[in-house]
Amino acid sequence: MRDMVSSLHQNAKSVGFVPTMGALHQGHLSLVKQCIADNDICIVSIFVNPTQFNNKEDLDKYPRTLERDCQYLEEAGVNIVFAPTVEEIYPEPDTRQFDFGQLDKVMEGEHRPGHFNGVAQVVSRLFDIVKPDRAYFGQKDFQQLAIIREMVRQLNLKVEIVPMPIVREPSGLALSSRNERLNSEQKEEAVNISKVLFESKEWMKSESVDTVIRKVTEKLDAVKDLRVEYYEIVDGNTLQSIADWKDSEYIVGCIAVFCGEVRLIDNIVYKANS
Ligand code: PAF
Repeated sequence: MRDMVSSLHQNAKSVGFVPTMGALHQGHLSLVKQCIADNDICIVSIFVNPTQFNNKEDLDKYPRTLERDCQYLEEAGVNIVFAPTVEEIYPEPDTRQFDFGQLDKVMEGEHRPGHFNGVAQVVSRLFDIVKPDRAYFGQKDFQQLAIIREMVRQLNLKVEIVPMPIVREPSGLALSSRNERLNSEQKEEAVNISKVLFESKEWMKSESVDTVIRKVTEKLDAVKDLRVEYYEIVDGNTLQSIADWKDSEYIVGCIAVFCGEVRLIDNIVYKANS
């Protein structure tokens, strides 16, 4: 991979990179499409990174569909698929500890201790191998995107991070590899997550931040298989909670919900930074 990439750079080819954990869906393919459009060469990695799972069962149950993924990527026109083994990425344990200040103390970071440190470990390692000019990340993982940007800043890396919009099913359900683990009844229930988030954009016009949080949580908790883990309304840059709609010009609501045993995340932009 290193040799290939160095000869590409020597030939002045721009390299775009889409890191994934496989189980690809249209959300990933939208990143791939943009990557192909923007760069001479598009590289996709498929690697289920053990260091970002704080729950062994979640790691074991993560869908692994390498053959099907490679077929999708070939059809999409990807030039190189990089699917290393755990030993190749971590020949010895990665003991690096990143300091992201308050960015990883909230939401996913608070509920999945160590998760973002693992993400930073693997993404920095992959960036070091692939040396991309641009890398593509979905906005469904809103906090992850903020962490990656901060990591790139701290390590002074020369890679442009390209955020890509959430891809949804016609029902509104945000695409996720974890959706594969939902049965058909649960899938219908999970549609309520985006439905309530969209509805909350209306409530925002007349209700306080606290009331919107309470209404979103109550409405979703009332659905049989759903259990809200957190719903936070935050400044889109600092990811810290806001108390009033006037507190920021960039406001995002981020949610994690268990649907049965499957943990889903989604988010909604209340105020976009222009
Ligand atoms: O978003 C993901 O799929 C993963 O967190 C990533 C960025 C591929 C790192 O393992």
